[in-house]
Amino acid sequence: MSASILVLVYLLLALFDKQHKHTICKGVMAFAILGLVLSDRSTADSHIAVQPTGGKDTLKSAFGEWFAMGAAIPGDDLSQAERQLLFRHFGTVTPENCMKPALVHPAPDRFDFAKADALVDLARGNGLTVNGHTLVWHQQCPDWFFRDGAQVAGRELVLARLRAHITAVAGHFAGKLKSWDVVNEAIDDGHDYLRKSPWLTGIGDDFIAEAFIAARKADPKAELYYNDYGIELQPKRDKMLRLLGDLKQRRAPVQGVGIQGHWRIDHIPFKDIEAAIVAFHAEGMRVAITELDIDVGTRATAGAESGTREQDAADPLANGLTADLQRRLADQYGQLFALFFKHRDKISRVTFWGLQDGRSWLNYWPSKRTNHPLLWDRALQPKPALAAVLAAAKAEPPNAPPAGSGPAAPPKASQGH
Ligand code: XIL
Repeated sequence: MSASILVLVYLLLALFDKQHKHTICKGVMAFAILGLVLSDRSTADSHIAVQPTGGKDTLKSAFGEWFAMGAAIPGDDLSQAERQLLFRHFGTVTPENCMKPALVHPAPDRFDFAKADALVDLARGNGLTVNGHTLVWHQQCPDWFFRDGAQVAGRELVLARLRAHITAVAGHFAGKLKSWDVVNEAIDDGHDYLRKSPWLTGIGDDFIAEAFIAARKADPKAELYYNDYGIELQPKRDKMLRLLGDLKQRRAPVQGVGIQGHWRIDHIPFKDIEAAIVAFHAEGMRVAITELDIDVGTRATAGAESGTREQDAADPLANGLTADLQRRLADQYGQLFALFFKHRDKISRVTFWGLQDGRSWLNYWPSKRTNHPLLWDRALQPKPALAAVLAAAKAEPPNAPPAGSGPAAPPKASQGH
């Protein structure tokens, strides 16, 4: 309704409304003006771009143009405040445990997808993507995969089970997941090339290729990653490159490498991380940081062999971080993200292993003590580290790729997968 029609209506009504001192007119005008305001607003919505309000004050607004920002979550059992935090800052999630073999496939003929389904629905229903974690791992994997009655199962049986597991689980979620960590932690920490896991001893060293081939068949769309810790460091970095060569030779459809990123404060190997990102990308891989956290406590074990336990000791950070630790944590997170931002043309995703400090596995691994490894504290308050991370998106580091060179696209070599 236009303003001129309103004026005309007002004048006509005024002529017939002398006795009632314009009360009808006032009522009609009030409705008309309301209509005008509402119709003008809908015109504005459809024609005028909405002004950006938040600026780059969230993880996904700062980095999302280049790579996805993610968090590991347990399932859909998050508080209202945690959901708000998740939806505001993150574009993708990883199930921390509920898609692992022990949880979805506890017995040969038993599957339990309830918790993982709820997580997928929560994420997708709110516009977040989901990264499946994980199909083949030596931890959190039931023993039945490797037994034949009282005997150790032979190659054919273990291989048939690996294929059946992947077909069922990746098939169940097919079309709903952005990616899968197909094989987790298969590289050996010591002198061997591959870890002597029941998968390796049961099938042989083609089990990784077999897993990728089965995953591709079960879910033709999900991006397929190999995921591991410590592969930024030598000698595991070279073993990772050797594995990529082996997988290519076996025509296994690996598309990306996940560097877990469980690092320790004051011991973050920045140079090695950079070298690994460059090296894996040069092999045609998408590179993701899949399980980022910074342990602020002291411990004897490096890396993240989650089977390792340490003796319970004192709990020095039970009451929170010292100001000095808080500053060091912010500084080192800032340096990490400056590095990720510098290599934003190679990185597909950075995922934190948890949403807030109270949810981190580092509170109970490798021993039980209070830890503070993430960007939000237990009260869901942002730590100084969040500001340091956000600032890294603005600071243009030297040798950065030209603006507009686009988000991580694998080089030509991997396009055939
Ligand atoms: C961890 C979970 O966070 C814990 O809750 C669980 O008890 C053990 O596993 N590397 C991985 C993850 O790939 O799956 C692990 O997650 C952490 C180390």
